[in-house]
Amino acid sequence: MSQELNATRQYLERHHGGDGKKAADRTVTTHERNHDNEFMAFWHAHLPSSEQLHIADLGCGPALFLRDLAKEHPDYRLSGVEIAPYMLERIEALPANLDIRVADLNAPGEQLFAPHSLDVCLANQLIHELHQPLMLFRAIRHWLKPGGVLILTDMVRQPIRPWLEHKFPDTDFASATLSAAVMHDSFRDYFEHNRYTADDLCEMLELCGLQVVDRVSLRSGRASRIAARNPQP
Ligand SMILES: C[S@@+](CC[C@H](N)C(=O)[O-])C[C@H]1O[C@@H](n2cnc3c(N)ncnc32)[C@H](O)[C@@H]1O
Repeated sequence: MSQELNATRQYLERHHGGDGKKAADRTVTTHERNHDNEFMAFWHAHLPSSEQLHIADLGCGPALFLRDLAKEHPDYRLSGVEIAPYMLERIEALPANLDIRVADLNAPGEQLFAPHSLDVCLANQLIHELHQPLMLFRAIRHWLKPGGVLILTDMVRQPIRPWLEHKFPDTDFASATLSAAVMHDSFRDYFEHNRYTADDLCEMLELCGLQVVDRVSLRSGRASRIAARNPQP
């Protein structure tokens, strides 16, 4: 295994709270919320109209969404990309139209998918887990067919005060005894989950040559859902 892949795995395990099994359980529990009716309406609104799509779920976790798609659409070709061993372990026997690729999406080689081979890329709660998303956005532009679409959902940056009040209720920061270890860890966690505004995400997508075609605010502005297309020449 490459040193970079290993370093990303270690980073992610800490980001996921230090307990891979719990993190995988949480992904199963939040599956429905991450793929609720609003998500499905947005998904169908932007899905290219063809019976034979090639769809890649980037950061697919236990691949539950792909499994549902595989059952419903035997003519789709489906690929999941994942790096965390505790997520990969949870992926059950694969249907014939689904494959899983192990790769680090921080800097995915463009060869992970053939150029202009994908109709749809999905990045559901992935982007905030990357060190930077530019290299992935650029690769997605390379993988998508002209007219192909990226659907992205993620948390977006929040002001710090409501977060502090939620995390440390009833705390008078001027006088309370504070643990340095707890404060360091809490702020690390804050910055790992509050990286970009929705505008930042759209601008990075546009800088990489993708065209933002839709964007909705979710969870009282704490998350955003974006559709971006690889423009037709
Ligand atoms: C919050 S989970 C979301 C899982 C799934 N997309 C969903 O919506 O239920 C993010 C997933 O992205 C994966 N991930 C994070 N960074 C990654 C990277 N650099 N390369 C590949 N996968 C990554 C994590 O291991 C995790 O399974």
